[in-house]
Formats: sequence, C-alpha cells, structure tokens
Amino acid sequence: MNLLVTGGAGYIGSHTCLELLKQNHNITVVDNLSNSSEESLRRVQQITGKKLSFYKVDLLDRDALNNVLQSQSKKIDAVIHFAGFKAVGESVQRPLWYYQNNVQSTLNLCEVMDANGVRNIIFSSSCTVYGNPDVVPVHEDLPLSGTNPYGRSKVMVEQVLNDIYQADNRWNIGLLRYFNPIGAHESGQIGEDPLGIPNNLLPYISQVAIGKLKQLTVFGGDYSTADGSCVRDYIHVVDLAVGHVKALEKLEENPGVVAYNLGTGQGYSVLEVIAAFEKVTGEKVPHIISGRRSGDAAECYGNPEKAKMELSWQAERSIEDMCRDTWRWQKANPNGYC
Ligand code: NAD
Ligand code: UFG
Repeated sequence: MNLLVTGGAGYIGSHTCLELLKQNHNITVVDNLSNSSEESLRRVQQITGKKLSFYKVDLLDRDALNNVLQSQSKKIDAVIHFAGFKAVGESVQRPLWYYQNNVQSTLNLCEVMDANGVRNIIFSSSCTVYGNPDVVPVHEDLPLSGTNPYGRSKVMVEQVLNDIYQADNRWNIGLLRYFNPIGAHESGQIGEDPLGIPNNLLPYISQVAIGKLKQLTVFGGDYSTADGSCVRDYIHVVDLAVGHVKALEKLEENPGVVAYNLGTGQGYSVLEVIAAFEKVTGEKVPHIISGRRSGDAAECYGNPEKAKMELSWQAERSIEDMCRDTWRWQKANPNGYC
C-alpha cells in the first residue's frame, strides 16, 4: 500500500515504519520534528535496506500538507496518524497548545485527506480515553472520558472521527488504544529518545541504570495493589508496531469505525518492572518510594481479546524482553539520537 505516516519520526512511528517497510509498503512520512530527529528514519532505512520519503511538515500548515498529498505519483491508500503531543503534565499547563496540536491538526489532516479522496485512517488513541477506570481489565465498549487536556484531546479526536464516518460512510477508521508502550527495536538502533528528564517510567529507569539520573522515585506505595505500587499494561513497542500492520489489513475489509485495545492484558506494578529490569540487565536501580503522583490511576490494564479475534494480533514479547531491549538501546545510545 501507499501510506502516509504522520509523526513517523517519533518513538512509535519509527518502529511502525520499520515494520511497514518489512512488509514492502511504500511510505511517506510527514513530521515537524518537534519531538524527534530525522536520524530515526535514517536508521529505519539502514536496518531494513529500504527507502521511505520524508517531508518536514507541520500538520497545522494545511497547505503544506495538501502539497505533500498532491505531489504523490501514486494516490495514498491510507494514513497512519501518530503526530501529536503526549505529555499529560504539560497538557495541564498548556491546554490550548494541546488542543491545537492534537485536535486542530487532525481536523486539517482529515480535510486534506477528504479533498484528495483518501478516506482510510488509523489513529493513535490511548487507554487514557477510559479515564480512571472503575473496573479492570478495560474493554472497548466502556464510555470514554478524559481526566486531563491530553486525554480529552484523544477523546475529542475519536468523536470527530466517528462523526466523519457518520456523515460519509466511505471512510474507514481504526482507533488504536495503546496501553504503555516501552522497549526498543532488537537492533538497539532505534528507541525512545525523550527530551530532557523523562516523565515515563522505563526511560527514567534506564537513565538511572546508566548513571545519568541518581535514583528513581516510585510514585506511591500505598495503592490497593499487591505491593502498593501502581499497575500498568506495558507493551513492547515492536508488538504495538505490528498491531498497526494488522489494523491496516483490517481497513482493507471496509469495516467503518473500529476500536481496538493494543496491550498485553497483563498488569505489572512499578516495583515488578524495576525487579524485571534489574534481573535482565544485572544493573541496580536505586529507588525511593514517595507520595502518589496526582492523577495516577491505581491500576490500568486492558482486555486485548477483540484485537486477537478481529486482527489476529496479540502481543508476544515479555516484560523481560521489554526491559532487555530498552537497556540495549540505552547503552548503545546514551544520548539518544544526538
Ligand atoms: P513521539 O513524540 O515520539 O512522536 C510523535 C511525533 O509527532 C514526533 O515525531 C513529533 O515531532 C511529531 N509531531 C508532533 N506534532 C506534530 C505536528 N503538528 N505536525 C507534524 N508532526 C508533529 O510520541 P510517540 O510516543 O511515538 O506517540 C505517538 C502517538 O501515540 C501520539 O499521538 C501519542 O499521543 C500516542 N500515544 C503514545 C503513548 C505513549 O506512551 N508513548 C501512549 C498512548 C498513545
Ligand atoms: N512512575 C513512577 N516514577 C516515575 C515515572 C512513573 O513511579 O518516575 C509510575 C507512575 O506513577 C505510573 C507508572 O510508573 O504508575 C507508569 O507511568 P508512566 O508515566 O510511564 O505512564 P502512565 O501510565 O502514567 O501514562 C501513560 C502515557 C500517557 C497516557 C497514559 C494512559 O505516558 O500518555 O499512559 O493511562 F495518557
């Protein structure tokens, strides 16, 4: 297929481009590089021995985006839409920035797609659309609610995409609700490269292990979980990337709007993740347990059965694989892509 990948230079996008190239898809990436480097795409091409096209374009620039679609020698068959901001805390500080970059940019993208007769899209949604769930595992039919501007931007985009389909059922829309992506490609050449001090657990752990940060703070030890720390559904980024390949195949069946949880279905606590990391790497992760981080749910993990049944997809990599691959990437690239 001829694919447009927005945000393809980023963490999940670069791993997905790699899997798509392996399947011989033609890829055009648009990314404004606000949270990534073109180096990730250079490495993706080096690993696969295959080429992709790259345009440094901001989705908020509708004309530039339109030019990319117009300049294709073969029509785009589908869009995979990763581009957006993703830091919950930052979204609380700068809500307008998040609504512009996550919602307005998606409106631009859909308008440009429609004008160019492209009506197949896979959207990077998140388990954050389930809010603070009362019951786990969460399943796709639960009502959606956002607990912060980032989460609400994902809920809004899901609603917009549903409305677009209601108005014109030529659209096919895959809403992929990711749980907690971690890990890196097994080559150790591409991985997560956060700007500044990481917010997320695994990048923080690996920077402590390599000596860039002194110690990890475990946010909360008094939750009603087995060991008192929060439980999440961590998923290897390569499994997640493969999920996109499967979702694309699903879109070819003209399913309308479909939503899938992409997770393992298995929850791990923060303390279990630290133990798994220490076991597979042989490195110590000094940590202290502090108070809770505001907004954190005690437990969030998903039921991935629908993706298994309808996409013939399931996560295959273990928490140990996730930690091992994160560490390989961190050791080989202590300063990320710099
Ligand atoms: P990332 O920041 O590594 O990748 C996003 C990419 O989009 C970056 O390369 C960035 O430069 C680009 N971008 C941002 N705004 C843009 C714009 N206006 N125009 C063009 N490019 C733009 O993040 P990621 O972890 O790869 O996440 C990808 C998607 O998945 C995001 O939509 C995110 O919200 C969603 N998601 C991520 C997680 C996670 O934990 N990583 C969980 C659930 C959902
Ligand atoms: N944690 C720590 N110490 C840290 C960082 C994280 O103890 O330094 C804990 C958190 O409290 C949480 C767990 O590790 O219990 C995972 O935290 P992350 O920040 O890695 O991930 P979250 O589950 O908070 O957030 C992720 C994505 C969001 C998305 C959300 C949906 O980063 O984009 O899942 O639930 F909105």
